[in-house]
Amino acid sequence: MTTYRIAPSILSADFARLGEEVRNVVAAGADIIHFDVMDNHYVPNLTIGPLVCQAIRPHVQVPIDVHLMVKPVDRIIPDFAKAGANIITFHPEASDHIDRTLQLIRDHGCKAGLVFNPHTPMHYLEHVMDKIDMILIMSVNPGFGGQSFIPQALKKIAIARRMIDESGRDIMLEVDGGIKADNIAAAAAAGADTFVAGSAIFGKPDYKGVIDEMRAQLAT
Ligand code: DX5
Ligand code: ZN
Repeated sequence: MTTYRIAPSILSADFARLGEEVRNVVAAGADIIHFDVMDNHYVPNLTIGPLVCQAIRPHVQVPIDVHLMVKPVDRIIPDFAKAGANIITFHPEASDHIDRTLQLIRDHGCKAGLVFNPHTPMHYLEHVMDKIDMILIMSVNPGFGGQSFIPQALKKIAIARRMIDESGRDIMLEVDGGIKADNIAAAAAAGADTFVAGSAIFGKPDYKGVIDEMRAQLAT
């Protein structure tokens, strides 16, 4: 039996009430908090950093999954580890030395992962699988919440699933972008086990209703 995890992206939460928002979404059944970091350089948007991670940390017990859309990546990693991140993922194009960056994340006591944009080749994984705890497949181009799911991502999820199975390692396979109750089952069928959803959850008043509906879709 696959363990499925729902990871609400706080990018679509009410930032003026972030502590309450993360508590509410965890009470509604979230397994992970997905934390989108954008730098207005690697992606054309600017969001939140380690101070905000530190501020929400005492409000929830679940893992905080920091998705770094920043370039360069290395110098911000220790700050996020100190701020209470549990998982840190980055885009391979944003690191000059991928193996070193993965090791840096692990040396700071966090799980490490690579993120693949719709165009990013999967071969970046080939020689670093032993240092990977999570693979994140983007089903939108990174930078904004509320975009539509790109169906070609399903093929990449399937490739990643094959690579994980061949490695024999315990690696989370996360999908991020445009995930809703009506496409979550397709992403699971392709092999994903961890589902980021921002606007689908925070855009509705009843977080539990949405998360329950997603779980119902995963159970079919
Ligand atoms: C996009 C971010 C996503 C985004 C997901 O660059 O990485 O995590 O917030 O939001 P939705 O679910 O609205 O596509
Ligand atoms: Zn994300």
